[in-house]
Amino acid sequence: QYQQQQFQQPPQYQQQQFQQQQYQQQQPQYQQQQYNQYQQQNYPMRPPPPHPPQPPPPQHRHQSHQNQENQNPLTGSPYTPRFFYLLEKRQRLPAWAARQEFLKLMHTHQVLLLVGEPGSGKTTQLPQILLDAGYHVTHQPGQVRAICCVQPNQLATISAATRICEELEVQVGTFVGHVTRFEDRTSGDTLLRFMTDEALFREALEDPLLERYSVIILDEAQQRTCEMDVLVGILKMVMQRRQELKVLLLSSSEEKKLQAHFEAAPLLKVPNHTFPVEVFHAQDAERDYLKAAVRTTIQIHTSEPDGDILLFLPHEDEIDLACQMLRKEAVHISHTLVVRAIYVGLPLMDLQQAFEPAPAGRMGGGKPSRKVVVASNIAETSLCIDQIVYVIDTGLAKQRAYNPRTRIEAQMVTPISYDSALLRARLAGRQQPGKCFRLYPEKAKNDWAPMIQPEIKRSNLTTMVLMLKRLGFDDVVHFDFVDPPPPEALMRALQSLNYLGCIDDNGNITEAGHQASRLPVDPQIAKMLLEAPKHRCSNEALSIAAMLVSLPVWLRPKDAFRAANEAKARFAHMDGDHLTLLNVFHAYKQQIQDGHDASRFCAENFISIRAMRQAEVARDSLKLIMESIGLQMISTDFQVACLESEKRGAYSMLREGQEVILHPSTSLGHRPEWLVFHELSLSSKLFIKTGTQIRPEWLLDIAPKGYFDAAKISEKSSARSRLDRVLTRRFSQDGP
Ligand code: CDP
Ligand code: MG
Repeated sequence: QYQQQQFQQPPQYQQQQFQQQQYQQQQPQYQQQQYNQYQQQNYPMRPPPPHPPQPPPPQHRHQSHQNQENQNPLTGSPYTPRFFYLLEKRQRLPAWAARQEFLKLMHTHQVLLLVGEPGSGKTTQLPQILLDAGYHVTHQPGQVRAICCVQPNQLATISAATRICEELEVQVGTFVGHVTRFEDRTSGDTLLRFMTDEALFREALEDPLLERYSVIILDEAQQRTCEMDVLVGILKMVMQRRQELKVLLLSSSEEKKLQAHFEAAPLLKVPNHTFPVEVFHAQDAERDYLKAAVRTTIQIHTSEPDGDILLFLPHEDEIDLACQMLRKEAVHISHTLVVRAIYVGLPLMDLQQAFEPAPAGRMGGGKPSRKVVVASNIAETSLCIDQIVYVIDTGLAKQRAYNPRTRIEAQMVTPISYDSALLRARLAGRQQPGKCFRLYPEKAKNDWAPMIQPEIKRSNLTTMVLMLKRLGFDDVVHFDFVDPPPPEALMRALQSLNYLGCIDDNGNITEAGHQASRLPVDPQIAKMLLEAPKHRCSNEALSIAAMLVSLPVWLRPKDAFRAANEAKARFAHMDGDHLTLLNVFHAYKQQIQDGHDASRFCAENFISIRAMRQAEVARDSLKLIMESIGLQMISTDFQVACLESEKRGAYSMLREGQEVILHPSTSLGHRPEWLVFHELSLSSKLFIKTGTQIRPEWLLDIAPKGYFDAAKISEKSSARSRLDRVLTRRFSQDGP
């Protein structure tokens, strides 16, 4: 039934031929060589001649594989055949061909801008080229400095490090490693550090001149993330103080603003040959773009010649859903469709699969199977999949949006820019002539912004302003921004920080501000953690903070909405969502402690196990930082409940008022009026599994004015009156 579909009938569509001409790069100013013929290079690259800022290439282990071609000098093990297979592929990348020109410019300038199409090898090859050229070596004998490659998001960071480790056949965290918000997989020996922009920003707080690095690479500079923009300003200052520091900006499209920001910086364009791409537009806007996208994919799969498909969808949930729908549909088709997803938050294993070519098809008379990659806009430039011939573009992306007036920051699905649409289409022409199907009419383009708006124009700046203050930039309004943020957003940020007590009325950073800046979370959450010890809830606040900074915890599959809602209700806390999150975290940890299968528990309760694992990592990391800044972890580590219904074995938690049931398996032979217990377990109800009888007087002895102060317990609860009675009795016994 796909025969009648739209893309089958070209006359209906305005067709636009993207001429090869359009994509041909102009000859860059600095380019004296033709790169079209790839130069045959021996691996490893020979270091360039010694030059003043860089001492002669060192006798570093990294260099020694000239002699022992088959042995990996980094590990001492022989190279596998895959090493040579990948090496051969790498040597065909445009970045490899531009190597000499690149090194020459790096040598003669402190900062260099390099532009190259997605997939030209900027991220994976250039840092290695710098290492091979000895850029990690300093004047001091025996001293090395690392090379830092900054990425705009976590997935790109981890993916790049993992890929290079694969290319070099080393373990992640040894020679090459990565640092993200809560995870540091590097060691003292790591010479190539992939970092998120945020992680480098935070590192600058401890090491303002970034002295552990000899080269800092800002990758995906054209994305203009808020953090990256601020880093540019910081680097400009650091460069003045450290003449020997090299800065390299990589981007997949020309960025006039950045170029203007570094006036003296040369621009090197890596030439790349791309093929023409035919672009088809839908005649009218598709109301259900998800369905239209799935339909188009199947359409291509059944009627177009070989070649993989890349489908852009704005939202992670939609990507998952589209994958499900495609897998279902593909069952009816004779040759195989391999469905893969790419988005931030995806486990690395799944990401790796998206890069792998589709296996040769078993069905359909040996016809090779086709791969469809359903991706968020991260696949536009950051992660470049090879062999794509068809691109399906919904024209939408999820982007950060902030309204300073309401102080609401949200991820919103918005139309992409003209630049993005062009980029997406071009991805179809990397290996051979391709086709791009746009699920929107051509006239929609008239409403688009010409370029992606820098994120700083649409972000909540509270964290950034706090960090700048901490770095000593008192006058944030006059910071050297590439694009100045809206004054209103800056004002709001200063105001929020003042409310939180992070800066005083004169705009100076306070002690609390110093502490908050060390915690890699929003200042609001940081403040909660700073205040928690006073309220004896450090552990709880920490768990809640960890849950808040992780992925959304609740899964809501469309076909099991009710069951998912019911599952959520089992954890519900009557005081609201934050304590509900805490219940979930406790229940999850309890499962692990009891030796149960946590993934099963999550699946049964529609909880995202990825979110839970993230929360665990975030919690551990935050806890270490809290301890390192001298915050005491104060919590009441046991809970008290008093009997509400003898018959049902129902207890009421003293502070929370939540109902809990004594589990039939406890060793308590009766139902005591007062209990202490450690953790709760959740199945159909909240159960106390490990409880011990106590006497209420003891509570008053331990903390007469504190936790068990009767006055702090809800008046309506029976526990309150019972505690009051104990107090009165004791009072009359002891006398005034
Ligand atoms: O950074 P840029 O977009 O210029 O390219 P890159 O990320 O360095 O990728 C260079 C080549 O390696 C491309 O052909 C990618 O498809 C390939 N690659 C891969 O096969 N697997 C990865 N995990 C990363 C890159
Ligand atoms: Mg890249």
